[in-house]
Amino acid sequence: MEVLSKVVLIGAAGTVGSHVLKALLEDERFKITILSRLDSTSTFPTHSNIKLVRTEYTVANLIQTFQAHDAVISVTGVQAVSQQATWIEAAHQAGVKRFVLNDYGNSIENQIGLPELEHFRNTRRECLALVKRIAMEDDGFSWSSLATGNFIDYSLKKYVAFGFDIPARKARLVDDGTERLSAVTLQDIGAAVRGILRQSETTKNRYLHIRSTETCQREILEALQEQTGSQWEVRYEDSKVMYERGKEAFAKGERSGMLDLLVTQLFQKGSGRSIVVSRQQSDNGLLGVQEKDISVIVADVLATFDTI
Ligand SMILES: NC(=O)c1ccc[n+]([C@@H]2O[C@H](COP(=O)([O-])OP(=O)(O)OC[C@H]3O[C@@H](n4cnc5c(N)ncnc54)[C@H](OP(=O)(O)O)[C@@H]3O)[C@@H](O)[C@H]2O)c1
Repeated sequence: MEVLSKVVLIGAAGTVGSHVLKALLEDERFKITILSRLDSTSTFPTHSNIKLVRTEYTVANLIQTFQAHDAVISVTGVQAVSQQATWIEAAHQAGVKRFVLNDYGNSIENQIGLPELEHFRNTRRECLALVKRIAMEDDGFSWSSLATGNFIDYSLKKYVAFGFDIPARKARLVDDGTERLSAVTLQDIGAAVRGILRQSETTKNRYLHIRSTETCQREILEALQEQTGSQWEVRYEDSKVMYERGKEAFAKGERSGMLDLLVTQLFQKGSGRSIVVSRQQSDNGLLGVQEKDISVIVADVLATFDTI
C-alpha cells in the first residue's frame, strides 16, 4: 500500500500538531514540510526530514507550497478552522492526493452536542462537505478525518474545570460522576494520523474514530486517590445548574460560560454524548492505537508533576 510520505503539516507546534510531528519523525519515510504563519513565534525542531516554510497564507503561496506533496494535514487551533476551505481548494489545485481535516473532537458526522456549541461544529461540517464534493468530482483527491473525543491527558494536566485539581487534591464531579466517555491521549492522536498516511487505501475518504480509553469521572478519581495515596476533597455539581450558569455566562461572552457548557456536554449524566465510538467499532487496529486502562493514563499524567 502506498505510504503518503510527502506531507505538509499546518500547526506543527501546537498541542496536537507537536504530537503528529513527533509520530511522523519516528518513521524516516516521512518528509515533512511545516507551514507556519509569517508572523508566528512558533518554533520547530531541526531535522533532516523537516523543511520549514514561513509565508503569508495567500492562495498562490499555498498552492506553491503544497505542490509535489502527497498530503496536507491541518492541525491548527480552532480559530483557524474557518480558513481551512481555502487550504482544501489550494491542496486540490496543487494536485495533493489527501487532505486530513482538522477535526479531533466528537464525530461531526453522527453525534450532536449541546445546541449552544453546535455552531462551532458547523464550519467543520462545511469543510467535510467540501472535501466530499471535490473527492466525488476528482478521483485523484481524497480526504480523511479523525474523531477522537476528549484529550484526556491534556485535560487532566491543563484544565481544573475537567474536574481534578491535582496539586490541591480536590475533585469536582458532575452529577454523580458516572457518565462515561471515550477519550484519547495526545500521543495516540499522533500515531493515528501517521496510521492514516501509512494505510492510505483503507483510510481514503473515511471518517475514522479512535479511543485510548473509556472511563468516567468517578473512575478517574479512584485512580488518582489510589496513586497519590490520599483521600481527595470531593464536591458534586448538578449538571442542570451548571448548564444554566454556562448558558448565561456564554451569552455575555464570558470564557467560564464556554467551560461550563463543555463540561456539561462531556459529563451530564444520561446524555450519552461522549462515547465517540465503541471498542469493537473503533479504527484503533487499523491506525495503530492501543486501548489502555485509565490507571495507566493517570500514572503517566502524575509522572509529569514535580511534587505530588
Ligand atoms: N477534543 C478535545 O478535547 C480537543 C482539545 C483541544 C483541541 N482540540 C482540537 O484540536 C485541533 C488542534 O488544536 P490545538 O489546540 O492543537 O491547536 P493550537 O495548539 O491552539 O494551535 C496550533 C497551531 O495553529 C496555528 N494557528 C493558530 N492560530 C492561527 C490562525 N489564526 N491562523 C492560522 N494558523 C493559526 C499556529 O501555528 P503557527 O504558529 O505555526 O502558524 C499554532 O501553533 C483543533 O481543531 C481543536 O479544536 C480538541
